[in-house]
This record gives sequence, structure tokens and C-alpha cells, in this order.
Amino acid sequence: MAGGARGNLVVRIQIGVLFAAFCSRSPTSSAAQKVENPLEGSTTTLINHSQALVQRLEALLTHGNGSDVSLRVQTMHSDEVKVFQAHTLVLSLQSEIFEELLLHRNASTLVLREPADCASVFDKFIRYLYCGEISILLEQAITLHKLASKYRVLPLQQGLSHYMMQHLSSDSLHGHVVSWYHYAKQIGDVALRDSCLQYLSWNLSSVIQSGEWPAVSDDLLLSLLQRSDLVLHSELELFGAVENWIGNNQPMGTTIENALRSLRYAMIPPQHLFRLQRQSPVLLKYHEAVRDLLFMSFQFHSASPLQLAKYFDVNCSLFTPRNYLSPAWGSPWFINNPTRDDRSTSFQTQLGPSGHDSTKKVTWNALFSPRWLPVSIRPVYTDHGAVQTIRGEDGRPRIIVTPATSSVDFAGVSFQKTVIVTARQQGKVVVRNVYNFHQSTEENGDFLMQADLHRRGSEYLIDNSLHLHIIVKPTYHSLIKTKK
Ligand SMILES: *[C@@H]1O[C@H](CO)[C@@H](O)[C@H](O)[C@H]1NC(C)=O
Ligand SMILES: *[C@@H]1O[C@H](CO)[C@@H](O)[C@H](O)[C@H]1NC(C)=O
Ligand SMILES: *[C@@H]1O[C@H](CO)[C@@H](O)[C@H](O)[C@H]1NC(C)=O
Ligand SMILES: *[C@@H]1O[C@H](CO)[C@@H](O)[C@H](O)[C@H]1NC(C)=O
Ligand SMILES: *[C@@H]1O[C@H](CO)[C@@H](O)[C@H](O)[C@H]1NC(C)=O
Repeated sequence: MAGGARGNLVVRIQIGVLFAAFCSRSPTSSAAQKVENPLEGSTTTLINHSQALVQRLEALLTHGNGSDVSLRVQTMHSDEVKVFQAHTLVLSLQSEIFEELLLHRNASTLVLREPADCASVFDKFIRYLYCGEISILLEQAITLHKLASKYRVLPLQQGLSHYMMQHLSSDSLHGHVVSWYHYAKQIGDVALRDSCLQYLSWNLSSVIQSGEWPAVSDDLLLSLLQRSDLVLHSELELFGAVENWIGNNQPMGTTIENALRSLRYAMIPPQHLFRLQRQSPVLLKYHEAVRDLLFMSFQFHSASPLQLAKYFDVNCSLFTPRNYLSPAWGSPWFINNPTRDDRSTSFQTQLGPSGHDSTKKVTWNALFSPRWLPVSIRPVYTDHGAVQTIRGEDGRPRIIVTPATSSVDFAGVSFQKTVIVTARQQGKVVVRNVYNFHQSTEENGDFLMQADLHRRGSEYLIDNSLHLHIIVKPTYHSLIKTKK
């Protein structure tokens, strides 16, 4: 290993000599700049020709001057060959894989075999090795990442992962997040995989309607269906999407059964369940696989969930709502100039999703405070009667949601509130945060902490408004003791 380190050192020194030789040939005087040196109190002048240096390195690659190795990039299953007059020094500096390959080569030519997609962007890749910069198109991200991984160019790998996480919401003809998810999973990039999964979960309605939906893998579909934080119109919409996916993919029976068993039928109104039972081809075919869930759901719809809770375990996903945007569950709330003062709103939701409760309405009051002061930073009175002053900016945003009448607080049910916060990303309005709480966002600790609502250009302000959607989800507790 010490030998390797020394090798690197030598490489760097040589590069310094090489660059000095290039730079001294055509001195330019434009980029001189004065810099204060606070330690010595004197002024040093920085001469900065790094941009010109990068251009010279690029010229080195395009003209091949001083080249000591010729790279032949062969496209697999094709006669296509691209040749680059390259420099072992630069390649080895950037990639230990190249260093290894170049050490063991026989002749002045190194042959590389690449699949067609990689071969087609190889010139971009090798230019990055010389110049340290690269311009990326959405559809090239995976291919470039494959090359960066194969040749172990870590900064490029990281740069591309970061690029992908920043461009989940970018426009593309057929969508790209599903393929990025599959790639991230395959190479074990957990951060990228989770970002993709969260993006798909929080934007499911759009994904379902996009051309990407049929390309979702079995594994991704089942991962999505497990989640309670999916943001979509309704469970019925999800049923339609699963049906459509099954129709397109014709997967194995067990996959179909697992997918169908992950749907939350109790969240679908009974009149729709009747229709699905009779008319959905998938449900007709796999009725046996979900018979118990449908039966349970019809029981749920037929009486108060509290009655059900006396006899059955209701603490399971079948009875747990996801983030439904349909009006029965909550309401959007756009707050103009959110830092100005406190705002309030009222909205109605169904008492619960069961057929027994869905026509009963509950009115909710919501209060938004832009600069609410948590107890921990309230003004402090000292022994001398002095008040430690607190500036308004020390406050944090808070929302509390309370029922307008107290009768809804019945035993065995709690109403979980969810606030969905949207923000602008690449010109698109996307879900940025999902906060769950019971009464106050205080319970979260970090509600809108990073939103920077004071700043005019905050990505959380859309036409100067904060875009929220509040959802109220009844969750039921089992009243029976489960045998253990
Ligand atoms: C030198 O110039 C380049 C661009 O011309 C700039 O990106 C870089 O930050 C500069 N370096 C310093 C030390 O100022
Ligand atoms: C590269 O070589 C060509 C001739 O082969 C020469 O014209 C050119 O000036 C050289 N470029 C550099 C940067 O040395
Ligand atoms: C080098 O040459 C030997 C003998 O000609 C051959 O067996 C070997 O595969 C070559 N290695 C490379 C990396 O081309
Ligand atoms: C969802 O994705 C689509 C397409 O990428 C985009 O147009 C839309 O703004 C996104 N919506 C949300 C809520 O994230
Ligand atoms: C519901 O079940 C989950 C685990 O499945 C458990 O963590 C939670 O405490 C249960 N809640 C109640 C109220 O029983």
C-alpha cells in the first residue's frame, strides 16, 4: 500500500511539471487578483489560470499530443470502435482501474469492451477524466454512472448520484425515476434508492398515469403498496393502478396475490367494493385470495368501527388510511404571505371511512402561526427583573388542528393529522415534506424548520403562498386483548 501511495505522489509531481510547461508557453495576464492575507497584513496576488489549464488538457485529449496509449473502445456485439489517443498519466491519476489495466497491458493499445449505451457516452466520460467537468442529460445519468462505477471514479459516481437525487422531478418524455430506482437497488446505492422510493410514494397519482407505471418491477410495486405515506387521490385509484399493472405485466400468481392483499379494501366505500367484486376481472379471478379481506371490510362498513373493535383486531394495515387527497379526507390550504401573521381556516371531513360513518361530518379548525415560541425559548425573567429579549425571528412555524366540537373525541379512535407541504423544484410543484401529528406540529420538532419563509425566493413559496394540504385520518385501537 505504501508503494501505491508513493506512486500517486510521483504522479502528482509529474502533473505539476507537465502543467508548468504548458502554462509557461503562453502566459496570460488577465486573471490576476489581489488577496488580503490576514495573518501577515501584507497583500499577495493570486494568478489564476486554472480555466486555461483545463482547456489545454482538453486539447491534449482532442489532439493526442504526447499520447502514450491508444484506447480502443469496442461496442459489444457490433463492429463499432472509437479510438482515443490518451495519456497513462491522466487515466491512472483518475482511476485505479485504469492504473491497473495500463500496468498490465502488452502494447501501446488498450482494448475496452463496452455495451452500446456506455460506448455511446465514452467520449463524455473520458473528457471528464481530463477536465473534471461533464454535462449530463437525464437519460445519460445511469449510463455514465455505470462507467464511473466500472472504472471506479468515485467523485463522478457521487456527483451523478447527487445529480439524480436533485432531478427526480425533472421533465422527461417517459419518466425516469422508476428506472433510477431499479438501478440504485441493483448497485446498492441506498440513499438514491430511498430518494426515488420517497419521490414515487409522494407523487403516486402522477406516476400511476405516466408511461413508467408498467415498468415498475414486482419488488417496487410491493414496496410501494406496503407504505402508509403514499400520496394519492384514494385507495380506489390505487386499486385501478394495480389492476392496470397486472394487466400489463402478467406476473406470477403469487405476486398478484401479494399485490391484491396489500390493498386496503376497508378504505374503499362499499358501493365501489360491490362493483369491483362483480366487474373487476382480476378480482373475479383471484377472489379466493382476498375473500377474508373483503369480508372484513364489509363488516367494517356495516357498523361503527368501535363495535368491530370489540371483537376484532383493528390495528392493522387494512384499517390504516394512506394520504388520500380526496375531499372526504381533508382540504388544501394556501397561505398567502405566510410570515405576516397568524391564520386560521375551517374544513370538514367524514367522521370515518366506514359506510357507517362516512356521511357524518366533523368540522376542524386549523391555526397557522408563523412565529410561535416554544416554551423552551419563551422570555426568561432573571433575578433582577430583567427580561431576556426574544426576537420575533426566533419563533417557529406551527399548525394546530382541533375539532370544532368535542363530541368526536370518542374512545378507541384517535384522529391523526397529516400536513403535506409542497414546494417548487425545477419549476415543478412537488411534495417536499409530510408531517404527522395528533394536535400540533410541535410534536414533530422540525415542522418547516428549513423552509426559510422569510426569504422571498424560498422554494416553499409558490406565488408568495405556502401550499399545504391537511388530511385527517381516524385510527382505531383494538378494544379486545389479543391473546399472547
Ligand atoms: C480560479 O478561477 C476559476 C475559474 O476561472 C475559479 O473557478 C476558481 O475558483 C479560481 N480559483 C481561486 C483560488 O480563486
Ligand atoms: C499538438 O501537435 C500539433 C501538431 O501535431 C501542433 O500543431 C500543436 O501545436 C500541438 N499542441 C500542443 C498543445 O502542443
Ligand atoms: C498480453 O499478451 C499475452 C500473450 O500474447 C496474452 O496472452 C495476454 O492476453 C495479453 N494481455 C493483454 C492485457 O492484452
Ligand atoms: C409528480 O411528477 C410529475 C411528473 O414528474 C410532476 O409533473 C408533478 O409536478 C409531480 N407532482 C408532485 C405532487 O410531486
Ligand atoms: C398497533 O400495532 C403496532 C405494530 O403493528 C404497534 O406498534 C402499536 O403499538 C399498536 N397500537 C395499538 C394501539 O395497539
